[in-house]
Amino acid sequence: MKARQIRPNIYWVGAIDWDRRLFDALISLPDGTSYNAYLVQGSQKTALLDTVDPTMTDGLMAYLEDIPVIDYVIANHAEQDHAGSIPPVLAKYPNAKVVTTPKGKDILMALLLIPEDKFITVNDGETLSLGSKTLEFIHAPWVHWPETMLTYLREDKILFPCDLFGSHLATTDLYVSNEGQVYEAAKRYFAEIMMPFRTSIEKHLERLNSYRIDIICPSHGPMYDKPSFILEAYRSWVFDPPRNIVVLPYISMHGSTQKMVEYFVGALADRGVTVKQFNLAATDIGKLATALVDAATLVIGTPTVLVGPHPNVAYAAFLANALRPRLQFISVIGSYGWGSKAVEQLTGMIPNLKAEVLAPVISKGFPREEDFKGLDNLASTITSKHKERGFA
Ligand code: FEO
Repeated sequence: MKARQIRPNIYWVGAIDWDRRLFDALISLPDGTSYNAYLVQGSQKTALLDTVDPTMTDGLMAYLEDIPVIDYVIANHAEQDHAGSIPPVLAKYPNAKVVTTPKGKDILMALLLIPEDKFITVNDGETLSLGSKTLEFIHAPWVHWPETMLTYLREDKILFPCDLFGSHLATTDLYVSNEGQVYEAAKRYFAEIMMPFRTSIEKHLERLNSYRIDIICPSHGPMYDKPSFILEAYRSWVFDPPRNIVVLPYISMHGSTQKMVEYFVGALADRGVTVKQFNLAATDIGKLATALVDAATLVIGTPTVLVGPHPNVAYAAFLANALRPRLQFISVIGSYGWGSKAVEQLTGMIPNLKAEVLAPVISKGFPREEDFKGLDNLASTITSKHKERGFA
């Protein structure tokens, strides 16, 4: 594949990773991903904006074969999927300088052992002239690490936000062609990568209101030639109140918790609450993370294992705590045989979630009438709390 022109003297020179199925040894990638790097040629200087994952350096170097000089490598983010090919690029272009934030320099020196004299650090709002093109650097910490920045190409009104607005999607489409598919992929990406930093992203979105942006070129997934599509999606994920949704991750070992979950899902549905049920023995954990973006309530279903929650359930609680969704209410349903501290242990694992804990419903053995009554009461409580808050 040739370098792909975006505008005169602006090219996509990235890599499509069709086969990658795991990121950071943590996040599953059902649709692969891409590492988008961009070449911007001004009348006097040439800049490479980000690079590619070190597993795909050869593809980037092939694109650069006919480029005699690169003056600047702009490092918007120090994570290896974008910065990992900076060392071979510097080896080919020994006079090139790495342009990044002061924190970016520290991290790149630590992770990639790039010598200090290779760096130019830039302040928030600083510009770099390439002659006929001007790069403006917007410090935007915590999209996804503390050193991140966005680069805005003033003359062409193109934003290069690196991880922000990305989607893990391998595609040969340069721009979004299937909005439904990209919306789902971008929402999953937001849930897994960006949601813990929502308060930082609020500020960045507000700041971007003052920029005219014709194209957004993220570093994962297709580019946005209609930026309002992804900007409006981010605004809804960041600013809108949660919705009338209960997310219910659970495990059942011998059928008691399963029975309670089935009854409870029906009780909520009968009351007009949307439920997203995830059996943690089989679910795609990325779908669970995505569901947490909009949900008002999390109810965890667990049997008791060695006095505590099932380990898969503990993992889901740990994940929800780390992702910091805007949940308002939390509860636990489940069962035990002879003794349980599952509720105390689970609620102790979610200190980041500033949500009201609703009375749990735990049955001894297989659920009976009083347990089903308890589930009805919990469903009614959730329904009225959602109504009181106006969650639709
Ligand atoms: Fe795509 Fe935070 O790296």
